[in-house]
Amino acid sequence: MTVPFLDLTRGYHRIRDEILLAVERTLESGWYILGQEVAGFEREFAEYCGTHYAVGVGSGTDALHLALRACGVKPGEGVVAVPNTAVPTVSAIVAAQACPVFVDIDPRTMTLDPEQLRRRLAASGASPRITAVVPVHLYGGAADMGPILEVAREYGLKVIEDAAQAHGVEYGGRKVGSLGDAGCFSFYPTKNLGACGDAGIVVTNDAGVAERLRMLRNYGEQSKYCSRTDGFNSRLDELHAAMLRVKLRHLEEWIRERRQRAALYTELLAAEPIALPLEPPGERHGYHLYVVRSPHRDALQSHLQSRGIATIVHYPTPVHRQPAYLALGHAGGSFPEAERACAEVLSLPLYPELTEAEVRRVAEAVRSAR
Ligand SMILES: Cc1ncc(COP(=O)(O)O)c(C=O)c1O
Repeated sequence: MTVPFLDLTRGYHRIRDEILLAVERTLESGWYILGQEVAGFEREFAEYCGTHYAVGVGSGTDALHLALRACGVKPGEGVVAVPNTAVPTVSAIVAAQACPVFVDIDPRTMTLDPEQLRRRLAASGASPRITAVVPVHLYGGAADMGPILEVAREYGLKVIEDAAQAHGVEYGGRKVGSLGDAGCFSFYPTKNLGACGDAGIVVTNDAGVAERLRMLRNYGEQSKYCSRTDGFNSRLDELHAAMLRVKLRHLEEWIRERRQRAALYTELLAAEPIALPLEPPGERHGYHLYVVRSPHRDALQSHLQSRGIATIVHYPTPVHRQPAYLALGHAGGSFPEAERACAEVLSLPLYPELTEAEVRRVAEAVRSAR
């Protein structure tokens, strides 16, 4: 038995009829850009997250880029990010003409370490002037938002959450994405809530941020053919919105299924010499990915591959060591915890349609790697 890392067709077949109805309804409407489906999905997703507003955009990367601009980040200002994230967290900061400032992670959660954030901000003569922070809710585990928000308030930083991997994740009883000034989601097809192509959204409680986002995604237009600001074309389109409305109705069920499979992995792997994902008190992990850590990661991955089990490393190279960002001047060893995480992490197959037999097969193969 081979186990693929992910099979999106299984998810599609569960809801095929509903999806095709939504597609048909949209095609028959004759209205394909910024219509009722986008408005409806924005309303429903904002309600799901517990925010006043949601603004659909073209991708998760655009969500971050436009949210940074809408929150008032200016060219040349510093924006804090962690190195062990998807490159788009950082490329969005650069797209907003700001300067990425890396801060290391807490090794337990593999997310931004609030203490190191405080130390970086307190460093005298800090340059560039840091005006925002982008905590990443990595793998579906929440960044430690309580202390992060406290530090941000103390230093007057905007908080733009990267919730691309964290649909439905809860921190202190609230959905992540709703905790900072803006929360950015990706609907890349593999995400907990995935489109059939590229799409994204920003949620916020700030009417001004929402208004600026609506302009920024649509040529800067405040009203038809009246551009009040410089802008872009980054609209969520009607077809994606119509399909996402269907999928949103199933999201809680899918998160439950992800959590059941994760719990089974955790039970079966508890005695292994590898670190398993954490779910701190007060958090509901979304298990976008089930990520284990081993100092012998590459050997473990080869072993699993030889048993027909596909795994992925999210992410092998920290962003500050990517060729595109070497010019920022951070040598290897600058962010030891993030670098160690990149060398040790391994994502096992996990999605709602993964069968119990497949979970057991993967766990058995991990156990046989000893
Ligand atoms: C943490 C993180 N941030 C940002 C993004 C960018 O999202 P997208 O691929 O929709 O542009 C992704 C998605 O891959 C991600 O995982």
